[in-house]
Amino acid sequence: MPVSAVPPSRPAPRLDETAYDRRRLRQWLAGDARADGVSRRRLLTLLAATATATVLPAPHPARAADTPIVKPLPPEWFVRRGTNAETRWEALRGTGHHTPNELFFVRNHTATPVLTADDWRLRLWGSGLRGAPGEDRAVEFGYDDLRALPAVTRTAFVECAGNGRGYYTSQQGETVSGTSWTLGAVGVARWRGVPLAEVLRRAGPASRAVDVQPRGLDAEYVSGGESLGRVRRPLPLAKALHDVLLAYEMNGEPLPYDHGYPVRVLVPSWVGIASVKWVGDIEVSAQPLFSPWNTTFYRLFGSAYPQQGSAPLTRQTIKSAFELASGATFRAGQDQVLHGRSWSGAGAVARVDVSTDGGTSWRPARLHDRPRADTWTRWSIPWKPGAPGTTHLLARATDTAGRTQPDVAVPNTQGYLFDAVMRHPVTVV
Ligand code: MTE
Repeated sequence: MPVSAVPPSRPAPRLDETAYDRRRLRQWLAGDARADGVSRRRLLTLLAATATATVLPAPHPARAADTPIVKPLPPEWFVRRGTNAETRWEALRGTGHHTPNELFFVRNHTATPVLTADDWRLRLWGSGLRGAPGEDRAVEFGYDDLRALPAVTRTAFVECAGNGRGYYTSQQGETVSGTSWTLGAVGVARWRGVPLAEVLRRAGPASRAVDVQPRGLDAEYVSGGESLGRVRRPLPLAKALHDVLLAYEMNGEPLPYDHGYPVRVLVPSWVGIASVKWVGDIEVSAQPLFSPWNTTFYRLFGSAYPQQGSAPLTRQTIKSAFELASGATFRAGQDQVLHGRSWSGAGAVARVDVSTDGGTSWRPARLHDRPRADTWTRWSIPWKPGAPGTTHLLARATDTAGRTQPDVAVPNTQGYLFDAVMRHPVTVV
């Protein structure tokens, strides 16, 4: 049944990192912010609007690892990309709203650590916890402690900031660095866990706390011969308190090893790097924090952006994909139903238009889900292919925040946040 009702979106807290980031950088200059693992030069570059161009290291160099991913990766479901695995969109056909765990894409900076829940501890520590001045405050939670706390369940996508990066090159002729994902670095799951707000409340945040930085238990990430330490990225406290989960279940099962077992952070609507897997500790800081993952990586650099780059990436962009292989073949004159999904980090997707003639004419697709924030809307459209030959299928989504996919995405050197309408090649025989 077509669905048109759009539920009212919940009030969004003030989560604009741009203004906060400028403040955070000024605080660093004044000696009031910490930046472990980030060079002084990097921070000065971010600060200096007139600095000379910076040569950026590639963010995702392929790293030799024997078994970077634990789960089976059959080639009909996944494309292997270095330490990562991209879901094939044709494999999502008929899978329902939630991506089955076995089909969910994997993005690993290094390799999946196989941890046990019994040995796992989550340590909250830092100057942003209440305690006597100078006192080293830390609070620990075991797996059972966490499971005993009030739980919530939430459907949300996890999507790599570089999802669709390959189209900057194949569709727009741009040179960008990083893993050449097509559109399969995204998945939707039903996550169950404890609100981070609940755990923070029990740990006792001080009124001066500003940043919260989860860190993974996987190996240190080496880039350009230099260790950047373990994966970690600060979140402003406002977001941490808003809708972030410490998730221990994915689609009704304990988190699979590759997706963060025993516990991961889940940051709805934000770029996937925020959703730190295998979380082992969370720094709660009274000082603003920087890590390579909100300075060198996961900002936009390039001619369309200030010399020092954009603010750290937060919300995901808007995208659409067909549940079809690239180059799929159809019989001329035979009735078809095309299926796809569209999603956005800014609101629910409430409208999708599809073109089956390379972008000349457009028809509204029928929506199969009630549009909701933080997840995708499935859709379909009938099509009777005409004369044999090659053509392109296009889908353009519009979200409740008023964003519509453009024809061309504004490029950035690391190929993040591709949002243009993808031209899906098909052959009619
Ligand atoms: N957390 C840790 N500890 N290590 C990682 O390599 N990758 C991040 C994020 N969390 C990563 C991590 C990135 S870039 C993405 S897109 C998501 O995890 C991918 O989550 P998934 O592998 O469960 O799909």
